[in-house]
Amino acid sequence: MHGDDLPLIPEFHQPGDPARVGIRVPFVRPALPPAELVARAAAEIIGSGRLTKGPYCDRLEAAVAQRLGVRHAVAVSSCTVGLMLVYRSLDLAAGSCRSRRSPGDPCGVASLESLSRFGVAKTSSRSEPLGEVVIPSFTFLAAPAAITWNNLRPVFVDCEAATTNVSPQAVRAAITPRTVAIAACHNFGNPCDMVALEALAAEYSLPLVVDAAHGFGASMHGRPVGAGGTVEVFSLSPTKLLVAGEGGIVATDCDCLAHFVRMGREYGNDGSYDALFPGVNGRMPEMSAAIALEGLAQLDEVARRRNAVAEAYRRELEDLPGIGFIEPLPGAVCSYKDFSITVDPTRFGMTRDGLRRVLAAHGVETRAYYNPPCHRQTAFEHFYDRSRPLPVTELLAARSLALPIGAHVDAAVVRGVCDIIANAKQTAS
Ligand SMILES: Cc1ncc(COP(=O)(O)O)c(C=O)c1O
Repeated sequence: MHGDDLPLIPEFHQPGDPARVGIRVPFVRPALPPAELVARAAAEIIGSGRLTKGPYCDRLEAAVAQRLGVRHAVAVSSCTVGLMLVYRSLDLAAGSCRSRRSPGDPCGVASLESLSRFGVAKTSSRSEPLGEVVIPSFTFLAAPAAITWNNLRPVFVDCEAATTNVSPQAVRAAITPRTVAIAACHNFGNPCDMVALEALAAEYSLPLVVDAAHGFGASMHGRPVGAGGTVEVFSLSPTKLLVAGEGGIVATDCDCLAHFVRMGREYGNDGSYDALFPGVNGRMPEMSAAIALEGLAQLDEVARRRNAVAEAYRRELEDLPGIGFIEPLPGAVCSYKDFSITVDPTRFGMTRDGLRRVLAAHGVETRAYYNPPCHRQTAFEHFYDRSRPLPVTELLAARSLALPIGAHVDAAVVRGVCDIIANAKQTAS
């Protein structure tokens, strides 16, 4: 099968829609629940007149908390806002946790103690960032944005080539007395090394903040990703396996942290119309919660399908010299929020960008995540300490290519895309 034989995705070939002409395989199509189920919920929401702070949000939070096995799942307007509120809330929670701590108190999160040294919330109006957060550079820009919005300094470290996730050894080497937190991410839905990261967090009494934006549908030793570290934050935007439209979930066992995140999504208002700290409107609308709630019922099936598609891609491509794959850790199941390959230009005979152009010429949309990596982006490059080289990050940023995956990708699409890649290799050799 060649590019021109690729299945047409009807709405991308409407005559007279020049924006869509030429796109045969879009990068992603959201996995949405059946329209009639969402319509029923929508009718109920409209009928009730309750568009926000209503029962769908409560039900989504309860269902997610149960699925993940955490005490709290707080629905927010996006993963980015969730991460912003988490960093804002950590030192407030640290003080609160300490005052509440008693034997057996689930809120006794010892690792939060270090944050109060820096008083993140109280000093956020100062111009100098005080605390440092050790974070991989090979991650999405929302995570360092959430850190810097809280007047904290991101300290970029390298990742591991096989998993693309942060290297625990690199994290250890970057911890200093100024460190207030460790940040990690399950890139592309591939669970990061939580055992090593949690051990480090415990050793240095630091909170571990996990960007689990890609995490729905992933698991480790049979347990869904999301109950690790001090807190994990999910995204429910359209490219994810569980979709709300826009939305996020903050998952934690810490009562105090959840309390402040809930307050933070309500402008920092504690309910008495007195802002305890500067918050935001970070609520998830009822319509979004309803879509996600219906989506939860199909999540396992969506994840199974993604894994089957990833397996098919891998079978088709594994004999091609120069193409590399993400290797999940033993016991890990990747959500395959993305199916990202690497292209070694010497062995493949063509650069990642060259292959990307060939695929685009055949109407196949791809993405080059995360290029440029965070430490080379305008907003964050001044935080980068050049004496700390990030060779794996640079390599992955130059070589990674995410292929189409989602509700529209089946065996025929996989074969078609892989044929184009194989032909490109042949032509280049
Ligand atoms: C790894 C990662 N973190 C955070 C985000 C931000 O999520 P949101 O768009 O829900 O704010 C994204 C978005 O795709 C992401 O890929």
